[in-house]
Amino acid sequence: MILTTGRLSRVLQLTLAVVKPDAVAHPLMLEALHQRILDNNFAIVRCRDLVWRKQDSERFYAEHSGRFFFQRLVEFMSSGPMRAYILAREDAISHWRGLMGPTKVFRARYTSPSSIRAQFGLTDTRNTTHGSDSPESAQREISFFFPDFHAEVWMEEEEPLFRSGQMHYDHQKQIHTL
Ligand code: RTP
Ligand code: MG
Repeated sequence: MILTTGRLSRVLQLTLAVVKPDAVAHPLMLEALHQRILDNNFAIVRCRDLVWRKQDSERFYAEHSGRFFFQRLVEFMSSGPMRAYILAREDAISHWRGLMGPTKVFRARYTSPSSIRAQFGLTDTRNTTHGSDSPESAQREISFFFPDFHAEVWMEEEEPLFRSGQMHYDHQKQIHTL
């Protein structure tokens, strides 16, 4: 049996974060959000800019079809460029969702004034960012945005190296690489 003392570094978790069209439309906001990611010790594993067709938006948010805000949400998410990230960190999923704050911008301003949605959100629909809400969602959403990314392979081959700090931030590509 191996006995250890002190704090063990914990396995990194992956999450999918999206900067929605309302925020990408403002370069300074996009830059501030990118910096917020770096300041919170996330490793940026992948980053891509893209525009959704309406069908992509409907497919991604299928769980909300039938809700009163669904059409509004679908139109908004396919209204312009957005940016998707695969982020790695201890407790990445809950940490990113904590940084985003509550879904509804007006509630966010009241209960979590320093959160992303409180600071940058416009309305309950145009609320700046998305974050996976569970490991299962993260897996599904990462595949949705990054079909060529194999999370299991990354966890096996790259996670230990990222965890031990062997990655560096590439300012040109704006991601972390080994
Ligand atoms: P997200 O999925 O975007 O990370 O947001 P969330 O988990 O905090 O919220 P969720 O309930 O999954 O809702 C997805 C997105 O739908 C829009 N929405 N609008 N008008 C409204 O009351 C309303 N409620 C939700 C938001 O864009 C929300 O992020
Ligand atoms: Mg959600």
